[in-house]
Amino acid sequence: MSDQTQTRVAIVTGSGGSIGKAICEWLLNDGFTVYGLDRDNALEHARFTFLATDLTRYATLPALLESEIEFGDENLLVNCAGIREILPIKDLSLEVWEQVMAVNLTAPFVLSQYFGTKVKEADLQGSIVNIASVAGTLGEPERTAYVVSKTGVIGLTKQLAIEFGDAGIRANSISPGVTRTNMTEQYFDDPEQVALIHNGLCLNRVGQPNDIASMVGFLSGQNAGFITGSNFIVDGGWTAGKQL
Ligand SMILES: NC(=O)c1ccc[n+]([C@@H]2O[C@H](COP(=O)([O-])OP(=O)(O)OC[C@H]3O[C@@H](n4cnc5c(N)ncnc54)[C@H](O)[C@@H]3O)[C@@H](O)[C@H]2O)c1
Repeated sequence: MSDQTQTRVAIVTGSGGSIGKAICEWLLNDGFTVYGLDRDNALEHARFTFLATDLTRYATLPALLESEIEFGDENLLVNCAGIREILPIKDLSLEVWEQVMAVNLTAPFVLSQYFGTKVKEADLQGSIVNIASVAGTLGEPERTAYVVSKTGVIGLTKQLAIEFGDAGIRANSISPGVTRTNMTEQYFDDPEQVALIHNGLCLNRVGQPNDIASMVGFLSGQNAGFITGSNFIVDGGWTAGKQL
């Protein structure tokens, strides 16, 4: 249970995407005031503020937060925005590599550095949740930049836990498996791909955005008060084993 007298503020990147929007809605239901960063807005709510942002322009992010965000007693940063390429490594240009790194890894670093430092200086409560991927633990064909960026997100999370732990700021990552979203919708047009996906799961369904949002809700709350530096796989058993 959270203390009802405390103000709770969340900053969520990728708020216009499938998982990001579900996270925002979950946090609004939990009483947070939510700031969403994305290129396009997908949500209207009295406690929601949309900040149009291009995360590849990561150097501009601290000034944006400085001018727009009012921290609460309890603060949460969720780095959820992400992009991925589907390209064999021979066709992976430096431009695409850099774009994937910018959105998936550098923007979370810049935002977390700003957030952790400010929350610590102001002696407020704070925690960070980074949306990584099972691709941060397993390699995947034709997704070199994505896999490397998500592996980096898991490492960044551990560093944030170490660097900000003395201020009571927790940092954890969530690694979704295949979740039905804008990013993966194309998989579901192809019956062979659908069969492959189901073959790789222990459970009889693919993930839904709320499977990830509920984990963010848990990690943001006091029941997760002793959890930091950890990576939570939410994948219906995708990484539990390989087919023989
Ligand atoms: N869907 C899955 O199966 C799956 C699996 C593992 C991890 N993830 C991760 O979950 C997160 C959310 O993905 P999703 O599946 O909801 O996809 P999505 O495409 O619906 O959402 C991603 C959001 O990020 C935003 N974004 C991308 N580049 C941006 C930029 N330069 N500036 C501002 N915003 C930008 C997009 O506009 C979009 O709204 C991502 O980090 C993704 O890697 C998804």
